[in-house]
This record gives sequence, C-alpha cells and structure tokens, in this order.
Amino acid sequence: MLSDGAQMWRLARDSGELDVNTPYAYALLARDFADTCRVATIDDEPVGFVIGYRRPESAATLFVWQIAVDPAFRGRNIAGLLLDGLVRDLPDVTTVETTVTESNASSRRLFGKFADRHGADLAESPLFAADDFPDSHDAEPLLTISGLGR
Ligand SMILES: CC(C)(COP(=O)(O)OP(=O)(O)OC[C@H]1O[C@@H](n2cnc3c(N)ncnc32)[C@H](O)[C@@H]1OP(=O)(O)O)[C@@H](O)C(=O)NCCC(=O)NCCS
Repeated sequence: MLSDGAQMWRLARDSGELDVNTPYAYALLARDFADTCRVATIDDEPVGFVIGYRRPESAATLFVWQIAVDPAFRGRNIAGLLLDGLVRDLPDVTTVETTVTESNASSRRLFGKFADRHGADLAESPLFAADDFPDSHDAEPLLTISGLGR
C-alpha cells in the first residue's frame, strides 16, 4: 500500500547496510509493485521490509531488490517470513533472484535458509561488477534460487 513507502525508506535508512534510495522511489514501488513489496510489523510498528518485482522478461522470476530488518529485531527470521509470505502469495513464481555482496554474511544466510526451506537450488554467478557502479560500491553477484517447492 502507498503508505508503506515512507516506512520502507526509514527502515532502509536505518539498516546500516543498504543503498538508500529516495523517498519518492519507495513511494513509487509501494504503489506500482504493491504485490511484490511488504512491510512486517510488530504491535503495528514497522520492523522489516522487502521490495521486489517480477522480471519483465520472465514473470515467474521474482527479483528481490532490497530486504532489511530493524537492527533490534534481527536474528528472529523476520526476513525469512517476509520472503516466505511473498512467494506463498505469488504461486506462479518459481525462481527468486537477488544480488548479495561477498561480505554480507547475514543476507547470504537468509537466502541460503530460504532455498533450503523450499527445497530449491541456489546458484551464484557474476552480475554487477564494482565498476558497473559510478560510486564506490562492491560487486553484486547474482543469487538464483530456482525450483521453489511449496
Ligand atoms: C539480512 C537481514 C535482512 C536478515 O534478516 P533477519 O530477519 O535477521 O534474518 P534471520 O533471522 O534469518 O538471520 C539471518 C542471519 O543473520 C545473522 N544474525 C542473527 N542474528 C543477528 C543479529 N542480531 N544481528 C545481525 N545479524 C544477525 C545470522 O548469521 C543469521 O543466520 P543464522 O540464522 O544461520 O544464524 C538483516 O540482517 C538485515 O536487515 N541486514 C541489513 C540489510 C541487508 O544487508 N539486506 C540484504 C541485502 S539487500
């Protein structure tokens, strides 16, 4: 829903890890990609979010662009529940893609556990090299999680 945009921006800003996009970008995503974006709440307070989209050339592939959990709530599988909820509600999605830097161990664990839970294969391949970005940014290899079981 539209109001998720502001919450997603705040969570991204406070994540300590993510590239923070403009508030407008999150509002746009919340409006136009509402079925592939979620905010997790505890006692009505936002504690995590995921934004993604179906790839234009392959609607059965969900690309997860950003996912984050408030630092105070990490380690409770909140991000895993966000991912599980998304694919549960998108039954035609068979593949999940994301990019993860080499050093982001928590994110690698998150997607590894997600693949295991769904009996899916996880493969890694090069996608964005550091010099594909105009700013100082690590390379972002692609993780492809395919054959999602339900
Ligand atoms: C990656 C992230 C979304 C995982 O969310 P989460 O809800 O904590 O996920 P999980 O509970 O499944 O924990 C995943 C891993 O995080 C690590 N972790 C556990 N507790 C943690 C804590 N308190 N703080 C940081 N990392 C922790 C562990 O390695 C854990 O794996 P394990 O269960 O095998 O021990 C979260 O760490 C985060 O917001 N990181 C910053 C943003 C980011 O890097 N996003 C991904 C790139 S887009």
